[in-house]
Amino acid sequence: MTRNKTKIAGTGSYLPERVMTNDDWAKLVDTSDEWITTRTGIKERHFAAEGEATSDMVTEAAKRAIEDANIKRDDIDLIIVATVSPDTAYPSAGNWTQKKLGLGPIPSFDLGAACSGFLYGVIIADSLIRTGMAKNVLVAGAEIMSRVINWEDRATCVLFGDGAGAAVLNAANEDGQGILSTYWGADGNLGDLLIQPAGGSAIPASRESVEKKLHTVHMKGNEVFKNAVLRMQEAAIKAIELANLTSNDIDLYIPHQANIRIIEATIKRAGIPREKTLINIDKIANISAATIPIGLDQARKQGRLKKGDTLLMSSFGAGFTWGGIVVKM
Ligand code: UT7
Repeated sequence: MTRNKTKIAGTGSYLPERVMTNDDWAKLVDTSDEWITTRTGIKERHFAAEGEATSDMVTEAAKRAIEDANIKRDDIDLIIVATVSPDTAYPSAGNWTQKKLGLGPIPSFDLGAACSGFLYGVIIADSLIRTGMAKNVLVAGAEIMSRVINWEDRATCVLFGDGAGAAVLNAANEDGQGILSTYWGADGNLGDLLIQPAGGSAIPASRESVEKKLHTVHMKGNEVFKNAVLRMQEAAIKAIELANLTSNDIDLYIPHQANIRIIEATIKRAGIPREKTLINIDKIANISAATIPIGLDQARKQGRLKKGDTLLMSSFGAGFTWGGIVVKM
């Protein structure tokens, strides 16, 4: 029996109630449902309620994932929250989640790898579980992008949504089950192409930084697009190769959902049919680190991902960061 792999034991997700459609955006900025749909594939996105914080959403998703994993809440011994929109600069959203879940003094922290954050978190959890450092790790991805977008910039504001997804990871107890390959990378040289410039030590909050809207998403869309296509393809193909598989072996592919055209270019190059690709960008838009764990939970709950299936996930995001993982469910 193989005991040294890590499995996805349970998943959960949470989308806030409020739905913001493309037509809603068209009332606020010079855009249209037609432009957003054809250029991105997005039709609507969820936005958090006033007063709702990132850790509130993580807590809901986490409760669902813990129940799904059929473990006790106290069995969780590490919390990793991937986010670029935490409740506070510190304490981390991981710390707030720990408090809200009522968990003991277990380690909890945030991981900043933007859209690749969830996959980065899974890779870290996998290594800690395989070395015996942790038993049941809660890895979440959660964002309230509606609080960090520039509501007047049509080129970026329409792209993002809010939500949280979580997974419980622990040791696989069946032959062949678990994480088969991981691939990750980053290129800080291209960091300026997708950036929230202010709020950190480089440009601390000031009247000027607020007036210039430097606390919001700044993106060179075309440049990011080109890199996203290349790196999403690379991450998907490498993860499949490292698992000693071919694209025919993949039962379901969950890509990061930044733009339908990036997803289409990736599956074409990687040789994955559209029917085997989870596409939910029309309903949720780009929720950065939360996108993949939400898709993962939806796929399992919709019966698109069953025990024994081979799952591929790949992502690309600010940093730049990217990652690819193959898992036998
Ligand atoms: O999740 C992390 C990674 N993020 C990504 O991967 C996002 C990558 N980038 C993209 O998905 C695309 O570049 C965008 C969707 C952001 C933009 O699509 P595009 O086809 O690259 O459009 P563009 O930026 O080249 O703009 C084309 C035109 C411009 O007008 P002109 O200059 O041709 O007259 C824009 O001003 O579309 C205009 N435009 C819009 N028009 C209506 C830009 N945004 C909008 C809008 N509504 N919301």
